[in-house]
Amino acid sequence: MPASLSSAPIGIFDSGVGGLTVLKSIRKELGQYDYIYLGDNARAPYGPRSFEVIYQYTLEAVEKLFSMGCHLVILACNTASAKALRTIQQNDLPKIAPDKRVLGVIRPTTENIHLYTQSKHVGILATYGTVKSDSYVIEINKFSPDIVVSQEACPIWVPLVENNEYHTEGGKYFIQKHVEALFNKDPKIDTLILGCTHYPILVNELKKFVPDHVTILSQGEIVAGQLKDYLKRHPEMDAKCSKGGTIQYLTTEDPASFQEKAGIFMDEKIEVKHVELGIK
Ligand code: DGL
Repeated sequence: MPASLSSAPIGIFDSGVGGLTVLKSIRKELGQYDYIYLGDNARAPYGPRSFEVIYQYTLEAVEKLFSMGCHLVILACNTASAKALRTIQQNDLPKIAPDKRVLGVIRPTTENIHLYTQSKHVGILATYGTVKSDSYVIEINKFSPDIVVSQEACPIWVPLVENNEYHTEGGKYFIQKHVEALFNKDPKIDTLILGCTHYPILVNELKKFVPDHVTILSQGEIVAGQLKDYLKRHPEMDAKCSKGGTIQYLTTEDPASFQEKAGIFMDEKIEVKHVELGIK
């Protein structure tokens, strides 16, 4: 049962199933809260899409979660965080829901990066959209101007995960190709950010090609820790987040196929409902 009539679950949004890696870590850290997970699988991947399209799709998802009562929404998607978050926070929220909040996953991952890197050379593996936005470079340099950031777009990795093809020879070829391309750009990299919420699924395959001394950062744990801290610093928002320990799963695609894919990410059987976005 919600804590009060107006309290509601925390919304977690991703273009598809990748955000489940973040949800999993958040739930481990903050299991007492209720969550609604929304995956826009029908329109994934977002990575290759334009700013306008990603912004429009993300806004529709945020509005859907708001209409379901959520006061706080986490964009558990780097592409949406890179392309849509700032515009939603600055232009849309003041008009549509001044008391609600939308947070992303890039700021939490970048603000403490100096604690991890010794060489001050950091590598980013992400979607084409995230790389093109330069969000990681800009954010890291804001906090740590002395850190050298190199990026590599891996456009095929999300489809490899979504289609469960990353164990195959073809899958491994594309994983190796992008890891090597990144380390060719900067062999001094000692810290690697998986800048896409799908990529933690690939971590065991990645480790085969990443030098042993390199730290691979898990975004889920960092985001979960920062969310815990945010809720502590904002008791008024914490009071609006219901605490029943439940999770509802929504997808814009076929619930059965979401359920099957989610099996790669979650250790339990889940119930999924279909939802439409973009219909006014
Ligand atoms: N999981 C999303 C991210 O973190 C990307 C997936 C997509 O391209 O739709 O960037």
